[in-house]
Amino acid sequence: MRGTATALAVSSSALSLAACGAIGGSGGDGSSAGPKRDDITVGLLLPDRDTARFEKFDHPVISKEVASLTHGKGKVLYANAEASAAKQSRQFQQMVADKADIILVDVVDAKRIAPDVQKSKDAGIPVIAYDRLAQGPIDAYVSHDNELVGQVQGRAIAETLAAKAPGGKVVMMNGDPADPNTAQFKEGALSRLQGKVDIVKQYDTDKWSPAVAKAHMKQAIQSVGLDHIAAVYAANDGMAGAVIDALKEAGASRIPPVTGQDANLDAVQRIVAGEQYMTVYKSFIDEATYAAQMAVNKVQGHDIAFDALTRDHVDSPTQKNIPAMHVPVVSLTKDNIKNTVIADGVYTVQQICTPTYAAQCAAIGLKLK
Ligand code: GAL
Repeated sequence: MRGTATALAVSSSALSLAACGAIGGSGGDGSSAGPKRDDITVGLLLPDRDTARFEKFDHPVISKEVASLTHGKGKVLYANAEASAAKQSRQFQQMVADKADIILVDVVDAKRIAPDVQKSKDAGIPVIAYDRLAQGPIDAYVSHDNELVGQVQGRAIAETLAAKAPGGKVVMMNGDPADPNTAQFKEGALSRLQGKVDIVKQYDTDKWSPAVAKAHMKQAIQSVGLDHIAAVYAANDGMAGAVIDALKEAGASRIPPVTGQDANLDAVQRIVAGEQYMTVYKSFIDEATYAAQMAVNKVQGHDIAFDALTRDHVDSPTQKNIPAMHVPVVSLTKDNIKNTVIADGVYTVQQICTPTYAAQCAAIGLKLK
């Protein structure tokens, strides 16, 4: 609810500021050429298909918002890297060759993309880092406070174990080291876990692959012992699902608290069923909407509106003071499904409460109409 309200507030002020720019007719500070056009092309590069949000939300929401901001004339040129940094680099170069007006990139590998960002810049095509902070000369960044995401996950485990199993053994499944968010999630989580729990195993998960996470979880169960694992920190929902499968296959009669991130539909269902403890709901609808607004305002030279959308600033290893927007995050548990993903229109009760989950849905007050 809160996320959507913020989105609307920012979008309407951004749009009215854009209208002011139109009255002036100059296209802002003169950094953009010519009058504002609607027939723009926004390049969109997303990293993988294993994470549901990208194909299901980020791409369609960005396309819809670009169309609505450009009277149906602007298009999105889309490519998914399928977790390959080399493929993403080729896709990026193709978009530069095709003369996209701006490129939004959610990187597979933040460092390896830097030369492509530079080429784009040299060709006069601005680049906005989407969700993950690309290295190289980017024009802006839209994401969440990723350390806070980790803190929210870590706190959930620390609090539940404080009551049930103080000092309990925790297995940590971190994300892909090539993704700059991974280090931030981990740092945030560790800041809430260290000194309170016993972190017995830590794994990195190449390409955020659920299959890799499952193999790691099997190893952890073997070495720690199923009954001694008090909780599992899983950095995202894809991995949380894999961890829970491994625990079930090992014969767990009770699943220990497992965290997640992304509020995938199957994760929300696992939360309803009491299998997954929590997830972090990052409004990808807000994030995608802001990204589209930033891209269109940038191309159209609405600099005041663009600045209004990027009031925060961040540093990357190659660049200081990057204009940025941080979208809020929420801890999602059984208790707030209704006023988060349902209120924001991400999922309907029908989608969550399929016959398998009907009884558990009813128990937490999620009713089919
Ligand atoms: C992160 C992103 C998450 C999740 C993950 C897996 O960078 O912020 O939302 O999707 O990647 O690809």
